[in-house]
Amino acid sequence: MGRVTPRGMLTAPLLAAALALGGAGILFAGPAAAQGGSGAEQGTPESFGFGRAATAEEIAAWDIDIMPDGTGLPEGEGTAASGAPIYARQCAVCHGQSGEGGVADRLVGYTPETTPPFGPRYEEWRGDGPDVPYSIGNYWPYATTLFDYIRRAMPSNAPGTLEADQVYGLVAWILAENGLIGADDAMNATTLPAVEMPARDIFVPQER
Ligand code: HEC
Repeated sequence: MGRVTPRGMLTAPLLAAALALGGAGILFAGPAAAQGGSGAEQGTPESFGFGRAATAEEIAAWDIDIMPDGTGLPEGEGTAASGAPIYARQCAVCHGQSGEGGVADRLVGYTPETTPPFGPRYEEWRGDGPDVPYSIGNYWPYATTLFDYIRRAMPSNAPGTLEADQVYGLVAWILAENGLIGADDAMNATTLPAVEMPARDIFVPQER
């Protein structure tokens, strides 16, 4: 008797599966061919007979996106001081006490000379120097979308639970820690879109 190698042992079931699939293909060939172009004539059905229309309230709860220019920002306001205790309570466990990173990304750590380019140019830019981690200060392109992201996705163990004032406070705290706004600057629907992020220009439109 020849040795049964693991590969040999796999061969028989795989072959059987392939034959079964081939067989299924032949079985399907009949009805598919018989149908011809009738799918296009029938079009999409009006209803699939399940589900229900979303209510205006449900749609409003999902429709919370904020555009880079600030469109969609809600009323409310926050400062680094109002955001700090919320950060300590709800964010530091994953992102570090000072935003230095932990089990989740670093959020703080911007200095003007550390906004690295993306892609292959990064290696060239870094040269023989140490790796430069991305933070909100050196790679996030718009302050407005930081609000959008935090409100929709953070804290990752309870997303969607933060009020607008709290999110403005958290955004203010992160921006202030990165040295991008003053410690007392209040963030709201007017001031947030005016914050220019240092990394804005390392993002380029790409047609694809
Ligand atoms: C349970 C852990 C956890 C907690 C708590 C948490 N985060 Fe996060 N956060 C994450 C993870 C994981 C990611 C990365 C998610 C991804 O890339 O999809 C992330 C990503 C982020 C980012 C984007 C970072 C980047 O570099 O792209 C921001 C900003 C952020 N969190 C802010 C917050 C704020 C503000 C809070 C508190 C309200 C918070 N997070 C609480 C785990 C957490």
